[in-house]
Amino acid sequence: MLRVEGLVKVYRDVRALDGLNLEVKHGQVYGFLGPNGAGKSTTILSTLGLVFPQEGRIELFGEEVFKDGKFDEGKLVRAKAKIGYMPEHATLWDFLTPEQTLEVIADSFGIPRAEKEKRISELLDLVGLKEARRRKVGKFSKGMRQRLLLAQALINDPELLILDEPMTGLDPRGIAEFKEIIREQKKAGKTVFFSSHILAHVEEVCDTVGVIVKGKLRLEDSIENIKREFLRKAGYTIVIETNRPVDWGLAGWNVSPLGENKYRVVAENDIREELHDFVASQGAKVLTMQVKEPSLEEIFLKLIE
Ligand SMILES: Nc1ncnc2c1ncn2[C@@H]1O[C@H](COP(=O)(O)OP(=O)(O)O)[C@@H](O)[C@H]1O
Ligand SMILES: [Mg+2]
Repeated sequence: MLRVEGLVKVYRDVRALDGLNLEVKHGQVYGFLGPNGAGKSTTILSTLGLVFPQEGRIELFGEEVFKDGKFDEGKLVRAKAKIGYMPEHATLWDFLTPEQTLEVIADSFGIPRAEKEKRISELLDLVGLKEARRRKVGKFSKGMRQRLLLAQALINDPELLILDEPMTGLDPRGIAEFKEIIREQKKAGKTVFFSSHILAHVEEVCDTVGVIVKGKLRLEDSIENIKREFLRKAGYTIVIETNRPVDWGLAGWNVSPLGENKYRVVAENDIREELHDFVASQGAKVLTMQVKEPSLEEIFLKLIE
């Protein structure tokens, strides 16, 4: 659906993309994760022909839209008709209502009148702006603006949705709602490619996550596998609480106390079962046991090392 190979983009002295490869398959929800400045927006803008890379290939819907340093305008225009795009920094007309905003966008796509009204009403419903459809956008919260931008991106019923940091600045509830909308798009057979610099945004909703660091794709896998791989490298940190003190002297693990009957264990692999057995062998019981999840920042740091 979207394939990028060896993409290079240099802005004066900044090598924003340094031989980037990635592949988004039909029907996937693909999370494009990376720290600020990693090259996410540059990648997205390149796939839409809004930034001119110097090297590499870009394929959309099986058509080669960029190669040998130039775009094939005809192919690009045809591909873009099937893409919905939500930019990272978008402006809305503050003096228009959501209904009016979507009408302007629908007209720019030449959507016929009868279909237009139906489509706008469906979209406002989908993004939860039905009640607010006749209110001026100027007074909208960040979350409401993001939803309207998503509705805009969906106006042409695109096969591929490309969203640049769609959940940045939303509160946890807004994020959960946005994820739900993305899931619905997937159910409707759409492919979604969205970027974020926050791990929590790609969790639960993505089939595949690509991690970009300094213009290169470092990993492409499920979020579970990415975390597991990290844990394997960094070691498992397990926090354990018992009903009474445990003498860890004989265990041979790296254990440090965290409070009364609470300990931190760092091991090379997942030793939760062994911990249970050891605690039981001391006549004590495990009350809680947690594997400490690495934060995205920790993962990035490990990847950059
Ligand atoms: N128009 C531009 N001119 C010069 N440098 C740019 C421009 N756009 C982006 N950059 C630089 O390219 C790198 C990648 O930026 P960007 O693609 O926006 O990253 P991200 O979206 O992951 O935060 C950064 O170092 C950024 O400063
Ligand atoms: Mg960006």
